[in-house]
Amino acid sequence: MNTDHADVIYQGKTHTFPVVTGTEGEKAIDISSLRRETGLVTYDNSYQNTAACHSAITYIDGERGILRYRGYPIEDIAGKTTFVDTAYLLLHGEFPGKEQRALFSRKLTEYSLVHEDMIHFFDGFPRGAHPMHILSTMINALATFYPNVDLLSLQEDIDSSATRLISMVRTLAAFAYKKSIGEPMVYPRHNLSYCANFLNMMFHSPVKPYEIDQDIVDVLNLLLVLHADHEQNCSTTTVRIIGSAQVNLYATISAGISALSGPLHGGANQEVMNMLRQIRDSNATIDAVLRRAKDKADPFRLMGFGHRIYKTYDPRARIIKEACDKALKKMRVSDPLLEIAIELEQKALADEYFVSKHLYPNVDFYSGIIYRALGIPENMFTVMFALGRLPGWIAHWNEMLRDKDRKIARPRQIYTGLPLRHCNESPR
Ligand code: CMC
Repeated sequence: MNTDHADVIYQGKTHTFPVVTGTEGEKAIDISSLRRETGLVTYDNSYQNTAACHSAITYIDGERGILRYRGYPIEDIAGKTTFVDTAYLLLHGEFPGKEQRALFSRKLTEYSLVHEDMIHFFDGFPRGAHPMHILSTMINALATFYPNVDLLSLQEDIDSSATRLISMVRTLAAFAYKKSIGEPMVYPRHNLSYCANFLNMMFHSPVKPYEIDQDIVDVLNLLLVLHADHEQNCSTTTVRIIGSAQVNLYATISAGISALSGPLHGGANQEVMNMLRQIRDSNATIDAVLRRAKDKADPFRLMGFGHRIYKTYDPRARIIKEACDKALKKMRVSDPLLEIAIELEQKALADEYFVSKHLYPNVDFYSGIIYRALGIPENMFTVMFALGRLPGWIAHWNEMLRDKDRKIARPRQIYTGLPLRHCNESPR
C-alpha cells in the first residue's frame, strides 16, 4: 500500500492528502478532496504544476529530454516505423500485427474520400484563407455529414470514426491547400500509402503529374511520427476539456486544431520561417537578434526556442535537425535559412540568458526548413503538425472517454471583480 502523503496545515488543522506515483516515479499530491475538507481551492497559473489526468499514452521527462510513446523511446520509432503504425500504437497501445495492419490500412483507404457535397464548402472560403482555419472548419463540418458520430457508444464505432478522421484529415488538408492556390483538387488513390497519397493530393496537377519519391515519403513519415503525441500540451488539453462535455469527436478535434494554430504552440513552425526570413532580408546580425529576444521591453521572442516541459534539448528537435541535414544533402538543396538557423542556435546555446533559462530549440525550430525542402508551402506547416498530432489527440480523447472517474472538466477561479452592488446604486 502507498503510504506516501502530504499534510496541509490550515488554520491550525492538519489535513492529509495522498501522494500518487506514476510509472516512472513522478509524484503528485492528490487534492481531490481539498475543497470538501478545507474549503480551499488551489491556484495554479496556466496549470504549470497541475496533473489533470492519469494517462498511459506518452511519457516525457523534460529534464532529461526523454519522450516515449506507449513506453517506446522516440529514437526507436522515428525513422524506423511508419506514421500509420505509430498512429495504431498510440490508439491501441501496441504496434499492429500483420492482420491488424492490413485491416487498418484498408480502412484508411476506404475512408479517404470525403462526402462530395463537402467539396462545395471550399468555394465559400476567400482566396488566400489560411489552410489551418479551413481545416478546423471542415473537420467541424464532418459531424453534419456523419451525424452518427454523436451517438458513439461501442468501441468499434469509436474506432471507425477515429480511422475515418485520420484518413479524411489528409484529404481535407490537401484540398485546403489546392483551394488556397486555386488549383483543382486531386482525389485520393487507393494504391498509395498514407504519406504518398497525401503528397500526391498536394502536388499532382493536370498539367504536371507528381512523381512519388520514396525518400520524400520517408522524411514525411518521420516528421509525422515525431509530431504524433506530446501528452498534455495546449491542444491535447483542449481536446480533453471539450471532449469531457461529451462533444462529438469531430467538433472536439476541430477545437484541438484551433488551439494548435497559435504561434506559441504549433503555429511556431511558420513563425520560425518568418523570423529567419526577416533576419535574412534585414541583414540583422545574430547578436542583434539575440539582444532583441532578451529585451523584456521588446515583445520579440526567439521562435522555435523554449518549452514548458523541456529544460534541455527537445529530443524531437535533435532528430529533425539530423534528418534536415541528411535530407537537404540528399536532395541537393542548399537553404540559406538553414545557415541562419544553425548560427542562431549556436549563439543562443552559448548565451548566458538562454543557458540560465534552459531555453533550447524545440520541435518547431528546424521542421519548417525540412518542410520547405519537401516543397510544402509555409502556410501548410501547422497543418502538417495537425496531421501528425491527430492520432495523439484521438488517443487522449478515447482514454478520457474510457476513464471510469471521468467528469466534465470545470476549473475554479479566484474572483477579483467588484463586490456585490445593485443596479440602482450606480448611475446609468
Ligand atoms: N525567446 C526569448 N525568451 C524566452 C523564450 C524565447 N523563445 N521562451 C521563453 N523565454 C523566457 C521568458 O521571457 C521567461 O523569462 P523570465 O523568466 O525572465 O520572465 C522565461 O524564458 C520562461 O518563459 P515562459 O514564457 O514563462 O515559459 P512558458 O513555459 O510559459 O512558455 C513557450 C513556453 C514555448 C510558450 C515559450 O518558450 C515561447 O514563447 N517560445 C517561443 C514559441 C515557440 O517556439 N513555441 C513552440 C513550443 S514547442 C511546440 C508546441 O508546443 O507546439
